[in-house]
Amino acid sequence: MNFSRHFVPLIATVALLLALWAAIQLWQLRHHLDQQTEALLEPEVELAVYMQQLHHYAQKLHWSGTAGNQQLASFYLHELEETEEKVLEAELMEDGQNISQLMRQHLSPTLKQMRLVVAQKDLPDFARHYQALLTGCNSCHRAAKHDFIQVQVPTREAFSGQVFE
Ligand code: HEC
Repeated sequence: MNFSRHFVPLIATVALLLALWAAIQLWQLRHHLDQQTEALLEPEVELAVYMQQLHHYAQKLHWSGTAGNQQLASFYLHELEETEEKVLEAELMEDGQNISQLMRQHLSPTLKQMRLVVAQKDLPDFARHYQALLTGCNSCHRAAKHDFIQVQVPTREAFSGQVFE
């Protein structure tokens, strides 16, 4: 009688403490794995995705701008600016290089210039400014040790499912 009065609560307390200890261990392990996964995956995945977006929107900017479609060109320029903003805010470092800082130097000035062009009717000198924009992309690729990635003015329309005029 006496024995079980002391023994049962003791076992229950030990079991509870063990469960608590196991839960803490699991939580710590998960936290540790989350951190490692984040460090391994995030920067690379994000930059490549942002680049894909930049390339995609830049091409659509070309087709809408060349067609003199101010409203559509302005839309794609806005998408480019939003992607630029995300990279700048992320303060991305890759292979010891400050990607956000490089983007600030190589892309931001030409995007600002393009904003002035698109703000005007008939988009004066669009082709020249578009070339300057792509030159900015490529000079950043060189600076970021990715000179093997070269973008160019699209030579044929790849988006047959959309009207750009
Ligand atoms: C920070 C400087 C920088 C700027 C500015 C920049 N890029 Fe990149 N770009 C990179 C880096 C670094 C990579 C390699 C990314 C990786 O390692 O995943 C890359 C990769 C790419 C790729 C290959 C990935 C793919 O989707 O095929 C393309 C295309 C690309 N960029 C297009 C552009 C275009 C278009 C612009 C301009 C509108 C631009 N980039 C501006 C640094 C830059």
